[in-house]
Amino acid sequence: MNYPVWQLGFAGGGLLIAIMAVFHVYVSHFAVGGGLFLVLTEHKAIREKNPDIMAYVKKHTRFFMLLTMVFGSLTGVGIWFTISLLNPSATSVLIHNFVFAWGVEWTFFLAEIISIFLYYYSFGRISNRNHLIIGWIYFAFAWLSLFVVNGIVAFMLTPGSWVDNGNVWSGLFNPTFWPSFFFRTFLALMIAGLFGFMTSTTLKEPELRNRMVRFCALWLLAPFILFLASAWWYRSALPPQLEEMVFKKIPGLKFYLQAFVACSSLLVFGGLVMAIRTPAAVRRSLAAVMLLIGLVYIGTFEFIREGGRKPYIIQDYMYSNSLLKDSITPVKESGILQAARWARVREVDENNLGAAGKEVFDLACLSCHSVGGPLRDIKVSAGKLSSTGMGFFVNAMGTKLKYMPPFVGTEEEKKALIFYIYHSVMNQPQTEK
Ligand code: HEC
Repeated sequence: MNYPVWQLGFAGGGLLIAIMAVFHVYVSHFAVGGGLFLVLTEHKAIREKNPDIMAYVKKHTRFFMLLTMVFGSLTGVGIWFTISLLNPSATSVLIHNFVFAWGVEWTFFLAEIISIFLYYYSFGRISNRNHLIIGWIYFAFAWLSLFVVNGIVAFMLTPGSWVDNGNVWSGLFNPTFWPSFFFRTFLALMIAGLFGFMTSTTLKEPELRNRMVRFCALWLLAPFILFLASAWWYRSALPPQLEEMVFKKIPGLKFYLQAFVACSSLLVFGGLVMAIRTPAAVRRSLAAVMLLIGLVYIGTFEFIREGGRKPYIIQDYMYSNSLLKDSITPVKESGILQAARWARVREVDENNLGAAGKEVFDLACLSCHSVGGPLRDIKVSAGKLSSTGMGFFVNAMGTKLKYMPPFVGTEEEKKALIFYIYHSVMNQPQTEK
């Protein structure tokens, strides 16, 4: 409640961060798994004394470098812009708590950038041994950067004892740190296979193409069992209430959970089909489709993780609308409009119900509900309810409806909120004041 609210309507409910993050996460996992793919494929080329495979590694490195360094870095910075505008309070908590972790992270990034450039430009110019060492250095730093970021991302879902002791180590090595780290590592290896399809299917020589496509299929399929095991471990590491919330209580997550299961089967099936010798054009199209399924796959996972955190942005500490759990009582006493530092309307009266209601909505609801957009559209919800019904819903927030934070406004603010939703958003002027 200490920062102005970015008054998005259509793009409310986290749409912007969802788009930015899904692309970033896909490419950044590729940056990890793909790093191992490069060195291991180079080892293969050297072992088999096969210059064609070596040429393939070089070609794939160029693709890898451009995608991860340009697109990966831009979207990474994009995430910072987006989160700092969408939720300055939570971003501030992450920065202040983990300032050294971020410093370490960026040092690792720098090492990644330097080593991948050295790797690419030194192909054929230095000894195999030294070239491989550079490749391993790249992969080590890429994996380490996942190690650190994973801690911070997992922290938001399960901050564990940090909530009580405020200790940075408790926050970083939180209850889901390890399962999430392995989960993401195996996923990264599978993603390396998916991106490998993109370059291996375009190889001209049929024999080599067939071998390399199969090699990539192995990357996709081999880690799969371990990936599923780590997903199970991840789930069992969640505190029971949170587990129940994610898998049972939040209605909107069911779709994503089903999509995740469906994509798992599609990926395995697609991987097997890729391994069969089919015409080059078929394989190329299938490679593109598989890459897209991979994006949906990681996207649904991230939606489940972010969605499952509701009503919090940092579990047990800060709600998605940036209200601190500990500040519920004082804010309730003063009302939202008094407590929010940047509210333009401070008092509700008969003449400003719409304006006051919009302020209340932006402060209390917009972080999770869009107005007419794809994510948790308040128009759709309000359409199902009468304004009296909405009143009951708002009263039940935080108690019966545990996936939403308690409503901390006064009775007048609630009235203004409902007036705004039905009068201004739903355009139902007959709503009684
Ligand atoms: C922490 C995020 C969050 C905040 C903040 C939030 N909600 Fe919700 N709301 C949800 C979730 C999650 C659902 C469950 C529906 C879903 O999963 O898509 C929901 C459902 C609802 C529903 C029922 C929807 C239906 O179709 O059955 C209403 C009504 C609603 N919210 C109103 C509000 C109002 C009004 C506010 C602000 C005072 C608010 N919400 C703030 C997350 C939030």
